[in-house]
Amino acid sequence: MASQQGSKILIDALSSGNQMVLLDILCHPLWALSTAVLALVVRLQRRGRWDPLACTVRLNGKTAIVTGANTGIGKFIAMDFARRGARVILACRSEARGMGALNEIREKTGNSDVHLRLVDLSSLDSVRAFAQRIVEEENALHILVNNAAVSGLPRQITKEGFEMSFATNHLGPFLLTNLLLDLMKRSAPARIVTLSSVNHMKGQVDFSHFHGENLTYHMDNVYNHTKLHNIICTNELAHRLEGTGVTANSVHPGIVMTEVLRNYPFRIRFVFNIIGFFFFKSPEEGAVSSLYCAVAEETEGITGKYFDSDCSLVLPSALARDTALAVKDFELCERLTSKL
Ligand SMILES: NC(=O)c1ccc[n+]([C@@H]2O[C@H](COP(=O)([O-])OP(=O)(O)OC[C@H]3O[C@@H](n4cnc5c(N)ncnc54)[C@H](OP(=O)(O)O)[C@@H]3O)[C@@H](O)[C@H]2O)c1
Ligand SMILES: *[C@@H]1O[C@H](CO)[C@@H](O)[C@H](O)[C@H]1NC(C)=O
Ligand SMILES: *[C@@H]1O[C@H](CO)[C@@H](O)[C@H](O)[C@H]1NC(C)=O
Repeated sequence: MASQQGSKILIDALSSGNQMVLLDILCHPLWALSTAVLALVVRLQRRGRWDPLACTVRLNGKTAIVTGANTGIGKFIAMDFARRGARVILACRSEARGMGALNEIREKTGNSDVHLRLVDLSSLDSVRAFAQRIVEEENALHILVNNAAVSGLPRQITKEGFEMSFATNHLGPFLLTNLLLDLMKRSAPARIVTLSSVNHMKGQVDFSHFHGENLTYHMDNVYNHTKLHNIICTNELAHRLEGTGVTANSVHPGIVMTEVLRNYPFRIRFVFNIIGFFFFKSPEEGAVSSLYCAVAEETEGITGKYFDSDCSLVLPSALARDTALAVKDFELCERLTSKL
């Protein structure tokens, strides 16, 4: 709660151009004192209601894929699966960064059944090649975590004609999920977890966005839209998967200290890191709600839902719950990602 509040204040302050005021306040000794007290309270309170280390579920004989597993939240999700004995596939775009995480995870967990497969989610061709290899090589797939995403990219159109952030955060993961569905249905019970964000609340749906039209590249505006599409299509997918034993849910990981702001100006990262040092979650803590959704016994069979960062079930925005809009969005994304 308090960390959400902290980030809200931060984001409000940044977007309304009040950085100077904010920095002035930062310099006041009273601020420092109250920050220290608040930080202590937040730290004492922020142990989640579900602790992955206390959860004894084993994943021996299960296969899991985590996209963007080389850093941030994704790395800790993959680490947890490896600790539980799963066969873990790290789906990363950089061989060097992927190998770094692979070695670290193998070393820390003692699980050697961890593998790297390269995929660039912004390219539908790359997603198709990745999925084809998985379908050929794997006998089963029990967990898919759509974690990889970007924020704050400037306007760019992919060679397939899509806006870069929409391609990376939504269309790539959408296609990946659909191409792996048959394998997951054969492996049921299976779970799909998609990392969205509380930022979806400010997102809007305009189908011309997919091609880079009518978008304003102000702060996390574009990111917010993509995170809304994540929930909308996950909900429609869950609907379509009813009775198959495959579940699909979205989660908000919390405000987490990762590389997510790497495309933002230095001053924004600076302020985020200072405030974040006290109030935001570590990447390990940021993995908890996704893990709750992916492995906990408590969430078995739950589908089409949105989990908050403290693992509670909450309602996403009204747009995210509009079922007619979901059907339209899902069908459009199917058309955009099909080769026909
Ligand atoms: N951090 C937060 O406060 C926060 C809040 C709400 C939601 N989330 C969500 O949590 C998820 C993880 O974010 P994070 O904070 O851990 O971010 P991060 O530290 O920036 O990590 C993002 C991961 O995605 C990968 N990635 C980016 N573009 C890719 C592409 N085209 N193809 C394949 N992989 C790609 C990155 O690979 P490279 O290292 O090679 O670039 C990296 O492994 C995201 O879905 C994000 O929206 C985060
Ligand atoms: C989006 O932009 C196109 C032109 O690129 C315009 O025709 C259309 O009306 C716009 N849509 C919205 C919802 O603003
Ligand atoms: C994106 O969403 C966040 C969280 O809801 C909000 O604070 C921010 O103002 C939004 N960004 C834009 C540009 O609307």
